[in-house]
Amino acid sequence: MVWTAVASRDPRQFDAPHTFDIDRAANAHLAFGRGAHFCMGAPLARLEGRLALNILFDRYPGLRRDPDREPVFMPGANVMGVESLHLLT
Ligand code: HEM
Repeated sequence: MVWTAVASRDPRQFDAPHTFDIDRAANAHLAFGRGAHFCMGAPLARLEGRLALNILFDRYPGLRRDPDREPVFMPGANVMGVESLHLLT
């Protein structure tokens, strides 16, 4: 089984592979796959993400992570994400 999430954290590919850097310029990640089976929904997913985050930050301009409560990540090996993420408004 190919674990593409690990490839997206490859230190040979990224300077700070474990840092969330929204301004990262060289960003050859594999979140949407690659090649012939590259995700057909990638443009839609990106548009939805942009719209959702814009609405969220318009509504809660001071939104930030609660520094006193660490996020809990999902234990699965394939799909990555947070199980809980405590925010402050
Ligand atoms: C953040 C959201 C999404 C992520 C991270 C994602 C990720 C991926 C990945 C990694 C693949 C490649 C799988 C492989 O190589 O076997 C893929 C394929 C695919 N995705 Fe997505 N996807 C997302 C959203 C969507 C949406 C919204 C749609 C449709 C509306 C979609 C439709 C497809 C289809 C049809 C394929 C198969 C393409 C093919 O095999 O030629 N995806 N996706």
